[in-house]
Amino acid sequence: MPHTARFVIDPEFSVGDVDPRLYGTFVEHMGRCVYTGIHDPGHPTADADGFRGDVAELVRELGTGLVRYPGGNFVSGYHWEDGVGPVADRPRRLDLAWRSIETNRVGTNEFLGWARQLGLDPMMAVNLGTRGIDAARALVEYCNHPGGTAWSDLRVKHGVSDPHGVKLWCLGNEMDGPWQTGHKTATEYGRLAAEAGKAMRQVDPSIELVACGSSNSRMPTFGTWEREVLEQTYDEVDYLSLHAYYEEFDGDRASFLASGAHMDQYIRDVVSTADHVRAVRGAKKHIKLSFDEWNVWYAARFPGERNLETAETPRLIEDTYSVTDAAVVGSLLITLLRNADRVAIACLAQLVNVIAPIRTEPGGASWRQTTFHPFAQAARFATGRVLRTDATGPRIDTPQYGDVSTLDTVVTHDEESGALTVLAVNRDQEQPLRLEAALRGAAAGHRVVEHLVLSDQDPDAVNTEAEPDRVVPRRSSGTHITAEGALAAELPPVSWNVIRLAPQVS
Ligand code: AHR
Repeated sequence: MPHTARFVIDPEFSVGDVDPRLYGTFVEHMGRCVYTGIHDPGHPTADADGFRGDVAELVRELGTGLVRYPGGNFVSGYHWEDGVGPVADRPRRLDLAWRSIETNRVGTNEFLGWARQLGLDPMMAVNLGTRGIDAARALVEYCNHPGGTAWSDLRVKHGVSDPHGVKLWCLGNEMDGPWQTGHKTATEYGRLAAEAGKAMRQVDPSIELVACGSSNSRMPTFGTWEREVLEQTYDEVDYLSLHAYYEEFDGDRASFLASGAHMDQYIRDVVSTADHVRAVRGAKKHIKLSFDEWNVWYAARFPGERNLETAETPRLIEDTYSVTDAAVVGSLLITLLRNADRVAIACLAQLVNVIAPIRTEPGGASWRQTTFHPFAQAARFATGRVLRTDATGPRIDTPQYGDVSTLDTVVTHDEESGALTVLAVNRDQEQPLRLEAALRGAAAGHRVVEHLVLSDQDPDAVNTEAEPDRVVPRRSSGTHITAEGALAAELPPVSWNVIRLAPQVS
């Protein structure tokens, strides 16, 4: 008999709405994310602007609605003016973040045009590393001002008559990190971010702003950085950023599978810090969180930016993801959704090739990594409101995060259709886990539409160009409503599960 985890599904009790921006992704000028990733003029499916049609199809299928651009560390040395105007006149630059040659073949207008074609909302970052207030407000004016000023008329001259209307802006990237070009102390960054944000909003009062939080929760300044930055920027910004990457260390898979527990604590710590600043200021506004970089990244295998050969379009951090990695990505998605009351924005980093759900070969194939599937399924089915779920059941003792629940789950409810979606990960590496959920209130009487599961006899199985569909979600049989009216399902070891319920048709 597998061990059992139990919880209650009752649409009366919700955490908050699922902001569609939780299903964001990230395109950085890094490695092959842009060049030969989304953009590859020689590719047989390329459109007139050189963007790959096969990748566009996969991006649509992934279901992301928001894309952050152009960095990442890249943005901290970027001159956005290099990437606009006639392509032939654009300079080749040495990108210090990744020691790459940036041709500037793709820039602001090309990216925003691509995003618009795919129905994606852009989230643009400004350079607060080597640049500042003036370049930032000029970029907002170039993008969003209708016309009749030097910067907006330049955009029109560059062939874009209608303003791009970019609503969401990041005030720099990971400015607390010593690796960042133009790294700053919290005091230096806070002042600059507040003034840059103010000027950007003077250009376009409708924009929303994200201040940089810590690069990760292990930074020595974590906590104090958030407090000091918010003390200076509280009135100007809407969101504070969080970044986290997870990997398996020294064969400690139990902790790796419990990465969501770390992410959950990290979110709570940042919420507490933001609310402390709110209390001290007597402010009304709550700062929301933008988890604008998250993923599995085998960073220990990365030689470090200082050890990279200078190249154009190098293959950088093209991690190949396994079934276990997909379960962890699923668990991180569950964590973000469970915190939907405060996390409004989240970006899987990155979109193509660079630690990405989509892989491509230059001029050749494109395929879905294992991690593509949990993201695409959550974006498609986990919409509406997040319900409160408190599971009881077996637990796992992990070296890094202590005692964690074997079941990681979240439930969403679409009020209009009545559909319920249960996302669940079984963290146990050996045993299946039985899930039992009592259906109460408006959930009572629902039927099972389907149970899709991603798991494999080999938890290290991956998708490759030669075998792109080695790992795909499959239908699981046996999931049913018990005589007592509860949902009952069995989750294989190390698995990602989507169980869809709908009201009975009367
Ligand atoms: O996503 C890769 C890099 O990770 C980003 O450029 C940076 O912001 C983070 O450290």
